[in-house]
Amino acid sequence: MKRVLITGGAGFIGVHLADHLTQSGGYEVTVFDNESLGHRGNVDNDEVRFVSGDLRSRADLRSALEGQDAVVHLAADTRVMDSIDDPAHNFENNVIGTFNLLEECRDLGVDRIVAASTGGAIVGDVAPPVHERMAPQPTSPYGASKLMLEGYLSAYSGAYGMRGCALRFSNIYGPRSFHKGSVVAHFFKQILSGEPLVVYGDGSQARDFLYVGDLVEGIRVAIDGGSVGAFQLGSGKPTTVNELLELIRSATGRDFDVQYEDFRAGEVVQTWCEIDKARRAFGFDPTTSLDDGLGRTWEWFLAQGGGPSQ
Ligand SMILES: NC(=O)c1ccc[n+]([C@@H]2O[C@H](COP(=O)([O-])OP(=O)(O)OC[C@H]3O[C@@H](n4cnc5c(N)ncnc54)[C@H](O)[C@@H]3O)[C@@H](O)[C@H]2O)c1
Repeated sequence: MKRVLITGGAGFIGVHLADHLTQSGGYEVTVFDNESLGHRGNVDNDEVRFVSGDLRSRADLRSALEGQDAVVHLAADTRVMDSIDDPAHNFENNVIGTFNLLEECRDLGVDRIVAASTGGAIVGDVAPPVHERMAPQPTSPYGASKLMLEGYLSAYSGAYGMRGCALRFSNIYGPRSFHKGSVVAHFFKQILSGEPLVVYGDGSQARDFLYVGDLVEGIRVAIDGGSVGAFQLGSGKPTTVNELLELIRSATGRDFDVQYEDFRAGEVVQTWCEIDKARRAFGFDPTTSLDDGLGRTWEWFLAQGGGPSQ
C-alpha cells in the first residue's frame, strides 16, 4: 500500500483524485483541507481519512504528513481575481503554505511530491501551443504563487534529493465543480438559472479543456513514476468558446441565449497546450472527448438543481 496525502483533497480535483486512488487499489489516502473552498462532506469518509488543517500551520501539516510515502499538493487559493485584489492573502496561503509543506516533507523524509501548477497563469499571453520550454511570465499573483511552487520544488529536488513534479493543469471541468468559476461550471449554472450566457469577445477565443477523470489518472501515474520537473496536462487541443457553446447545446439539449460583450482587457485570447512531455515521461493519455465529458458533467449539474447537495 502506498500512503498518499492529498492537500486540498476536499476541493473539486481532490475529491476526484481521492476516489480514483481508492478505486484503483494499492493506495491509502489521507485528505488534508482547511475547508476554505472545499468541504469534508465531499470526501468519502469510509475510504479516506480526513484531516482538518491549514497549510499555514506547520503543526497541522506535520501531523498529517507523518508516515506518508507521497504528497499530492493541490491546496491553494485558486481564485485568480481575488489574488489580484488581495495579493498578500494569496502569498500567505499559497506561497508560505507551500514552503511550509516542503519544509515538513524534508524534515520527515517524504520525498515524492506531485504538485498542481498551471499552464496559462504561469506563461501569460504567448502564442500557443503552450509548452514547458517557455519562459514564465505570470500576470497575476496567483500565477506568481505557482511559479514559486515550481521554483522551490526544483530547488528541493536539486538540494535535498526530493523528487518534485509540477503538473501544469489546463482548464479542468467535470462533475463536482459547482463552486468553481471556470467557464464550463459557470455556463452550466447560468443555464440552470435561466440566465443568458455572457461571452466576452466574439467567441473565437480558444482554451484547452481537460476532463477531470483524465486529469486524475494523469496524477496517479505521475505519483508512481519518478518524473521531476514541470509537465503540461491538458487535452492538447484548442476549443473556441463558440465551439464549446455548440457542444453544450447538444450535451444539455437546452436552448439558451448568448450575449456577446466586449473583450475584457488583459484576457488571453488563444491558449492551449502541448502534452508530449507528459506523454513521454509517464504515459499521460487523455481519452475523454469533450462531448462525453460535457454530457457527464451536465448530468451531475442537473442532479444538483439549485446548488450542490453537499
Ligand atoms: N480547476 C482547474 O481548472 C485548475 C487549473 C489549473 C490549476 N489548478 C490547481 O489545481 C489545484 C486544485 O484546484 P481545484 O480546482 O480542485 O480547486 P478547489 O478550490 O476546488 O480546491 C482547493 C482546495 O484547497 C483547500 N485549501 C485552500 N487553502 C488551503 C490551506 N491554506 N490549507 C488547507 N487547505 C486549503 C480548499 O479548501 C479547497 O478544498 C489548485 O492548486 C489549483 O491552483 C486547477
